[in-house]
This record gives sequence, C-alpha cells and structure tokens, in this order.
Amino acid sequence: MDIKVVPEVSPLVTEIVQHMSGIINRGACRFGPKGCLLPTPYTDYVQRLKNFEVREDDVWIVAFPKSGTTWSQEMIWLLIHDLDYKGAKAQEIIYRSPSVEFGCMMTAEAREQSYTPYNVEYATNLPSPRFLKSHLPLQLLPDQLWTKKPKIIYMAREPKDVAVSYYHHCRLMFNYTGTDELFYEAFLQNSVFCSPYWDHVLDFWKLRDQPNILFYTYEEMKENLPAMILRVAKFLEKSFTDEQLAQLADHLDIKNMRVNPSVNREGIIKKLKDEGKAPKEDDLLFIRKGEVGGGRKAMSPEMVDKFDSWKKQHLSGTESPWSRST
Ligand code: A3P
Repeated sequence: MDIKVVPEVSPLVTEIVQHMSGIINRGACRFGPKGCLLPTPYTDYVQRLKNFEVREDDVWIVAFPKSGTTWSQEMIWLLIHDLDYKGAKAQEIIYRSPSVEFGCMMTAEAREQSYTPYNVEYATNLPSPRFLKSHLPLQLLPDQLWTKKPKIIYMAREPKDVAVSYYHHCRLMFNYTGTDELFYEAFLQNSVFCSPYWDHVLDFWKLRDQPNILFYTYEEMKENLPAMILRVAKFLEKSFTDEQLAQLADHLDIKNMRVNPSVNREGIIKKLKDEGKAPKEDDLLFIRKGEVGGGRKAMSPEMVDKFDSWKKQHLSGTESPWSRST
C-alpha cells in the first residue's frame, strides 16, 4: 500500500524549517498513517525504504533523534565485531552503521557534495552482517522487518532531555537560528523532524516482549553501563570476559567518546564550520553533556511543566518505558 504524503504548511513548521539551512532541505511533509514530519525530499524515497530488503542476520538500531543512538551504535558495533577496536577506529560510525534514510533528506547539493555516504544504496550493498540505523518511526520502516525478523534494538530517552539535545543538534548541524523556546514548543506540537515523539517511542514499547526486539532507555544505560553492555551482549548472543566488558565500558565513557574522531562527527562539523554552515562556537559539540535531567535544567519552569503534563497525558494507562529506571 502506498504511503500517504501530505505537504506540511502549518505556520509553526514553516517557521521552524525556515530557521534551518545548510544541508537539510527547507520544505517538510507528513508521511504515513501517523503523519511523521520529514524533509520533502524523502517523498522520493519513502516507498523505496518500505520495500528495502532486510536480511535475517541484520541488526537494526532504531531511536528518535538524540536519544543516545551513537553511544549505542558504538557499543553494539563492537559487540557484533568481537571488540575489534582497531576496526572501530579505522572507520567512522556513519559508515560502519549507516543510517538508511539520512541521505534521502538532504538537499541535492549536499548529497552531491558527499556530506554523507549513507544512503539506501550504501546500506543495500553492505556485506552481512549489517548493522543499520534508523530514526524512522515504525510505520515507515521496511515491511520485511516483520517477516525476516532481524534483531532490532530500540533506544528511548526522556523527552525533555531529547528536546534540549535536539535543539543544540539543529544549531550545530542545520544552522538553526530560532530560539530554544520556539524549538521546544515545536517539539510539543509534533513539529520537529521525526515527530510525533510519543508514537515513535510507544509503538516500539508495545513490541518490547517480542524475542527479536530489545527495548531500553538512555537512562538505564547511564545508570549502569556495564549492566547494559551485558544485557545487549546476551541479546546478540555474544559472551565476553569481565575484563573485556570493563574495557568496553571505558571505551564508551563519554570523556573517551568525545575525543574519538570515529564517533564524534568532528569531520563533518569542521566541514560545516569551514563552509559557514554551522556556528563557529568551539563549545558546540556533537557529543555534548550526556546528562540525565539536563532538559529540566535548560528549560524554563513553565516549559518543564508543559513537558511534564504532556508526558503524563501520553503515558496515562500505559506502563512507562522509564518505570525500570527513573
Ligand atoms: P546531549 O546533547 O544531551 O549531551 P544521538 O547519538 O542519538 O544523536 O544522541 C546524542 C546524545 O547522546 C547527546 O546528548 C550526546 O552527548 C549523548 N551521548 C553520546 N555519547 C555518549 C556517551 N558516551 N555517554 C553519554 N551520553 C552520550
């Protein structure tokens, strides 16, 4: 069945996307039954991604943007590849664990300038075992995920922390020039890319008991990284010594990830800054604070209240994905 695509012309989305420039396209559409907001060029790819050929031995990571995806990717890639630190260092994570959709969202110019290697073709042609990443919501992911049933890991993060992280990300990567308050309002009104946030998280939360799906939160990973490594290793049917697991926890510590060019996006950030497509501030990093509760500190009390009642409304009658941690 064809995916419904509707151009989004609401004043809020128009304002938000007008504040972005650089590699991301300015127009936006709503895709699929839950109206996921994505840049307009995705229209040419939405069906291709639905028909994407999945392999049984793929591993997929799915998350709403800024949920700690890169942190998990580095952990999972190393677990899959028997702790091959040399291999991990030799190639950026965006090549080792490509996004299946990101290249489809950029301007034609950015695509030509190879800001990204990761596109449908790149992911299609990778040898097995592939480790693929997506920020797409469940309804836009390939149909074959539900027949081939590869291992799928879904990572969720508290929405205030996601919103604040996303605001900084849009400043750094998409030259966002609007205010933080405008961005947070847009987040609450499902008007930032990949929204609606709650459908994204809860649609996978409902599937958490399926044997090929592992659902966990950023907060759980922060609370006890060694325990999370062990849990994911078990899910991937891998086993390591305690010493090996401790070494991996150290590799994944934020202070080490921040200075690791294979995961900290310093190459693309330098390119964006050199070309005047990103603010020049030195303290604007891809791997930023990495805190639990940073959203509450960064937002005004009124905005915190808005987010908290929005969260309560969406979690009423559902066990919370954060019931095991926060
Ligand atoms: P903050 O902006 O709150 O610091 P994604 O990879 O999905 O884009 O998520 C990025 C978020 O994960 C950022 O959050 C980033 O700092 C955080 N992150 C990345 N590596 C981390 C690590 N090793 N430990 C904790 N948080 C990490």
